[in-house]
Amino acid sequence: MCALAKGLARLPLAGMATIYFTAASLDGYIVDSKDSRDWLDARTIDSDGPFGITRFAQSVGALVMGATTYEWIVSNQPERWRYSQPTWVLTHRPQIVSPVLPVHVFSGDVTELHPKLLQEARYRDVWVVGGGQTAAQFAQAGLIDELIVTYAPCSLGAGGRLLPTSSQWKLIEAEANDDFVCARWRKV
Ligand SMILES: NC(=O)c1ccc[n+]([C@@H]2O[C@H](COP(=O)([O-])OP(=O)(O)OC[C@H]3O[C@@H](n4cnc5c(N)ncnc54)[C@H](OP(=O)(O)O)[C@@H]3O)[C@@H](O)[C@H]2O)c1
Repeated sequence: MCALAKGLARLPLAGMATIYFTAASLDGYIVDSKDSRDWLDARTIDSDGPFGITRFAQSVGALVMGATTYEWIVSNQPERWRYSQPTWVLTHRPQIVSPVLPVHVFSGDVTELHPKLLQEARYRDVWVVGGGQTAAQFAQAGLIDELIVTYAPCSLGAGGRLLPTSSQWKLIEAEANDDFVCARWRKV
């Protein structure tokens, strides 16, 4: 590959990418066995630094997450919804939606939802927020273009898995941000 092509390969995909962006422990858990993210919140990351959430959140046009993740937000961050973009929650239980944290609901095959997410994202990226069960369905269907993980310097031994499926990725870039090691992979 020539130098220009190599450089281009390292650039983020320009719009309309579906990206699973999450934080994880070194042993690949996104929540501990007590359903807590204290291990994450105790660590320092610069939101405006490399792989920071501020720029990433601005680049997305639609979000999708699983019911367990949504319920975690309802329990732990109930004051207000943090995102202005339209958000879909995968669930068989539409009654879990809180009026304070409004979202669309979807039940079924994620390949049927994905075109809607791309349409609503309006040329921006789609953020697969997680959890692992949700991300795994998108990955199994070949719908995740990029995986971005910010790794906290701890192991948990048990909890909710980052991506509980078999998948292959190509490393595009990696950088440190305060306590975290962050990396971006592209779908092989
Ligand atoms: N570290 C981080 O940055 C981070 C990021 C995201 C999430 N998390 C954590 O991860 C944990 C949740 O992860 P998880 O993998 O266990 O769960 P999840 O993906 O958030 O939610 C799974 C649930 O969503 C519903 N669901 C999934 N696919 C569906 C489909 N195709 N159609 C209809 N309903 C569907 C099912 O619930 P029902 O059938 O009951 O509706 C299922 O049990 C939470 O504790 C969350 O806080 C952490």
